[in-house]
Amino acid sequence: MTEVIAVHSYKGGTGKTLMSINLAATLAKNGKKVCLFDLDFRAPSLFALLKAKPAECWLNDYLNNNCEIDKAIVDLSDRVPGQGRLYACFANPATDAIRDISSKDRKWEMRALGRLLALRESLLRDKGFDYLIFDTSPGLQYSSINAIVASDFVAVTTTGDRSDIDGTKRMITELYNLFEKKTGLIFNKILEPSLTAKKKEIETKINTEYQVPMFGLIPCYCDVLRAGGTLIFAQDKPDHPFTKILFEMAKKIENNDIT
Ligand SMILES: Nc1ncnc2c1ncn2[C@@H]1O[C@H](COP(=O)(O)OP(=O)(O)OP(=O)(O)O)[C@@H](O)[C@H]1O
Ligand SMILES: [Mg+2]
Repeated sequence: MTEVIAVHSYKGGTGKTLMSINLAATLAKNGKKVCLFDLDFRAPSLFALLKAKPAECWLNDYLNNNCEIDKAIVDLSDRVPGQGRLYACFANPATDAIRDISSKDRKWEMRALGRLLALRESLLRDKGFDYLIFDTSPGLQYSSINAIVASDFVAVTTTGDRSDIDGTKRMITELYNLFEKKTGLIFNKILEPSLTAKKKEIETKINTEYQVPMFGLIPCYCDVLRAGGTLIFAQDKPDHPFTKILFEMAKKIENNDIT
C-alpha cells in the first residue's frame, strides 16, 4: 500500500512544494483524508503559501518531543471541494527555528526519524488518515533522508536541467534504491509544445535514461508560474490541464498503480 509519499528532488526549484500541495488537495478532493507536511526546515514555505492560521505547535516542536502531533496539525478542509479532508503540519519559518534545526546533530536526527515513524503510525492507524504527503528540502539533507525512509513512495521531481540529470540519477541509485523505496519521476516544466503527441516517446526516453517509471509529465504553464505557488488547483482551477494531470497522478496512488 502506498500511504506516505515523499516529494523530493536533487536540485531546488523543481516543483516539490507545488506538487505536494496540489497532490494532497487532489487526493482530498477525491474524498480522502490527507495531511500535508512541511519537512523543508531550512526554507519552510507551506505556512506562507497556504496563508494558514498557526497551529498550537510547529512540526519542529513535535520532532523536539515538546508537543503531541494533534497540536501541530491544522484543518484546511475548507480549501478543497467535496467531503474529503485536508490537514497540514507546518515547519516553523522563524529565523531562530531555522538556525536551531540546522544545527542538530546526527543523534537528534535519528531520534527525529523515530518521531516521524511514530507520527506515521499514529495518523494512519489511529486517526484514520489515508495519505501523508511530505514536502522536503532538495538534496541530501538529513530531514529529507528521514522523510524518504519514513515514506512508501518517492515522487522525485526534475526539470531535466543539465545540472539536475546526473544528480537525480545518483540519488535514484544511491538513495532511493538503497532504501528499497518505490520511486516515480515527475518530469516538470517541460517546454515541448506538442506534449500529447510526444508523450509516449518522452516516457520511453525517461524510463531508459533514469531507470524508474514515470509518475507525471508536466508542461511549463505561465499561469502556474504567475500564481506564485498560492493556487490550489483542485479548488481554484478545476478545468486547468494541470488539474487533470494531478488527477491522473492521484488515481495512480489510489489504485496503487506505482511499481
Ligand atoms: N509546471 C510548472 N509550470 C510553471 N511554473 C512552475 C511549474 N512547476 C513549478 N513552477 C514554479 O516554479 C517555482 C518553484 O516551484 P516550487 O517552489 O514548487 O519548487 P521546490 O522544488 O519546492 O523549490 P525548493 O527546492 O526551493 O523548495 C514556483 O514559482 C512554482 O510555481
Ligand atoms: Mg519547496
